[in-house]
Amino acid sequence: MNLSGNTILITGGASGIGLAFAERFLERGNEVIVVGRRLERLNEVKEKFPQLHVRTCDVSKADDRKSLVEWVTSEFPKLNVLVNNAGIQQRVNLLRAEKDWDYYQNEIAINVEGPIHLSMLLIPHLKQQSKAAIMNVSSGLAIMPGVWVPIYSSTKAAIHSFSTSLRHQLAGTSIEVIEVFPPAVNTDLGGVGLHTFGAPLDHFADSIFKGLKANQLEIGYGGTEERLNASRAEIAEGTKRAWEGFLKNNPDF
Ligand SMILES: NC(=O)c1ccc[n+]([C@@H]2O[C@H](COP(=O)([O-])OP(=O)(O)OC[C@H]3O[C@@H](n4cnc5c(N)ncnc54)[C@H](OP(=O)(O)O)[C@@H]3O)[C@@H](O)[C@H]2O)c1
Repeated sequence: MNLSGNTILITGGASGIGLAFAERFLERGNEVIVVGRRLERLNEVKEKFPQLHVRTCDVSKADDRKSLVEWVTSEFPKLNVLVNNAGIQQRVNLLRAEKDWDYYQNEIAINVEGPIHLSMLLIPHLKQQSKAAIMNVSSGLAIMPGVWVPIYSSTKAAIHSFSTSLRHQLAGTSIEVIEVFPPAVNTDLGGVGLHTFGAPLDHFADSIFKGLKANQLEIGYGGTEERLNASRAEIAEGTKRAWEGFLKNNPDF
């Protein structure tokens, strides 16, 4: 995709990977709108980057998604890029899943319903633009599930599948469909401190921008690049090994 001159909506753009992408898009001369649930967090990033546009939106709620799309398309008629990045990650032991269903369903609503519905709401607008893109942030766990985050992994597999169908269906339009597969990256995903072992955020984001510049449509980083080309046997073995490693480090899980 062109890396400048766009008008870009990034969900979950006030922290972590979304903010790292927002900063890079700002540096390259794009209009950038970021949304999230926490107003105070949005205000903090607005103070740091006054040129950013911010708005609260809970992407798990259909009414919020609809009013976001009405607002953004009327305030920013040149909007031509949607980055579906907002996500949460919950560790779930399926032998002791005692919370109300709402708790588990929320992860599906944010990670799956949000991106699918926002894409569907925005396709009519995006296809009017001469160049447009939908960028979905999935995960390496879309391909090789993290057994300790079983619902999360299935949401990311769903987004991978959806991105593939979307790319085929939109092939005759001006909208390109890009999927980013982060490995573990050092952000607050899942809670502060749970991803400090992950890749450095800036290095990860710079590398993804190289992939965007090279017009890659499926962009991995480090281990997830290898995973995109792994055999079923390698994926099965990797899944088993990672689960064993997790249980060793988290005996109380
Ligand atoms: N970090 C990793 O290791 C890793 C690996 C693979 C994939 N990913 C994916 O990368 C994406 C970004 O995650 P991150 O690592 O940058 O974590 P993060 O720092 O926790 O960022 C997640 C963002 O999503 C927003 N968000 C969460 N629920 C939302 C909702 N209901 N409505 C609107 N915004 C919501 C959060 O803002 P509010 O809380 O203010 O709403 C936050 O800004 C996610 O899709 C994640 O699954 C991350």
